[in-house]
Amino acid sequence: MAGEASIKAHVLGKIQDRSAVIGVIGLGYVGLPLAVEFAKAGFHVIGYDVSDRVCKLLMRGESHIQDVPASEVAALVKNGLFEATTDENRLSEPDAISIAVPTPLSKTRDPDMSYVISAAQTATRQAHPGLLVVLESTTYPGTTREVLLPALTERGLTVGEDVFVAFSPERVDPGNPVYHTKNTPKVVGGITQACTELATALYDSCIDITVPVSSPEAAELVKLLENTFRSVNIAMVNEMAIVCDKLGVDVWEVIDAAATKPFGFMKFTPGPGIGGHCIPLDPHYLAWKMRTLNYKTRFIDLASEINSQMPAYVVEKVAHALNAERKAVNGSNILVLGVAYKRDIDDVRESPALDVIRLLEGSGANVSFHDPYIPTIREDGHVHEGVDLTAKLLASMDAVVVVTDHKKVDYQMVMDNASLIVDSRNVTNGLVKTKARVVTLAASTRAAAEVMV
Ligand SMILES: NC(=O)c1ccc[n+]([C@@H]2O[C@H](COP(=O)([O-])OP(=O)(O)OC[C@H]3O[C@@H](n4cnc5c(N)ncnc54)[C@H](O)[C@@H]3O)[C@@H](O)[C@H]2O)c1
Repeated sequence: MAGEASIKAHVLGKIQDRSAVIGVIGLGYVGLPLAVEFAKAGFHVIGYDVSDRVCKLLMRGESHIQDVPASEVAALVKNGLFEATTDENRLSEPDAISIAVPTPLSKTRDPDMSYVISAAQTATRQAHPGLLVVLESTTYPGTTREVLLPALTERGLTVGEDVFVAFSPERVDPGNPVYHTKNTPKVVGGITQACTELATALYDSCIDITVPVSSPEAAELVKLLENTFRSVNIAMVNEMAIVCDKLGVDVWEVIDAAATKPFGFMKFTPGPGIGGHCIPLDPHYLAWKMRTLNYKTRFIDLASEINSQMPAYVVEKVAHALNAERKAVNGSNILVLGVAYKRDIDDVRESPALDVIRLLEGSGANVSFHDPYIPTIREDGHVHEGVDLTAKLLASMDAVVVVTDHKKVDYQMVMDNASLIVDSRNVTNGLVKTKARVVTLAASTRAAAEVMV
């Protein structure tokens, strides 16, 4: 007991006086901003990634993550607070390790735990008494206890006494101008009380607010609740767009008016579907876990079904709009405007734009794309090069499909030069009606005077 207290007190002391070395496994959208926050708080941070390219780039003082300025990485590398390595032996040095590796789905939409298992094995090989390990990757409830804990304790270390294990979901929202890693409250749940206390102390050192919960399972479920909440609400409002379209009502007018209610309503907006590494995937981790317990998560399944049909709904709008001009999708020149999964970021993972492009090409359209953040997209071995957004290009298109509402794009210029815009994000609302005929996801009062399709 005295030993337990002294190991914990020793680690706590090192966290408090910043002499603790921190390891971060996985230096992507989540791991790099976190590593930078730890380093900015004064810790020596060793970032470990299997990608030689990523480590070399970071050590040159560059950044592959849009929200992390290269100047910050360069300064931290220069003053010795941050280093990136592919040498797993360097992970014998940290007093605390955060794991932020991918948690994708397999082709059958089951959790692919291979990255987490591999990272847990890496941490285990380097584990020593006094080590705190925190899993940050989004995953199903039970992962920390069932996957990470057995790995770490298999060599005789006792949890809560000489090794400390917790889960803390990452909530980073890429491209968010207000909320970053530091000012987004961090939920922490340890296997034992001592684990929660140490993990809380670790994140208190660099995150404004830490929210301890009673177990890793509670912390794991917090993240899944948040992302399921978004998936379900986006699906609900997407269905409302279809409902409004059939009723001939402007869905955005309805939403904006509903949002004036000061309580009991939260605004979500319809769109071409969902993307990114979180909302389309995370709820399936929970659905999978519940299937193993013989329970069907109906909200998750329905939301996924509606959201994943939205790209086809957009393409249907394009087909109807072209049809009204006596044109077929087959052979038409169509520009997809914006391919990132959401506004003002450079991430195409799971982007609905990829489905829109695939469906249009499948119907014989000549599809090109423009995205101010994404010069090329790679899909199934094919490389698509983006095109410049010029008046001449727009005039040569049979249709322009707005999939992502990047603020950088001059939509008035698009209105002035394109002949037909299918606007899945309502970016054309309020613009001066010039040349383009605009078709939105749902009937719109501003378009009511124009030809409706
Ligand atoms: N991207 C987001 O917006 C976001 C937000 C919240 C939570 N998350 C979750 O965080 C986790 C990480 O996501 P991400 O977006 O940062 O992924 P990412 O793909 O951007 O980065 C993961 C990094 O881990 C590295 N890696 C893979 N296997 C490794 C291993 N065994 N050892 C060391 N490095 C390894 C990869 O090379 C890559 O650099 C996921 O579980 C994700 O669901 C992501």
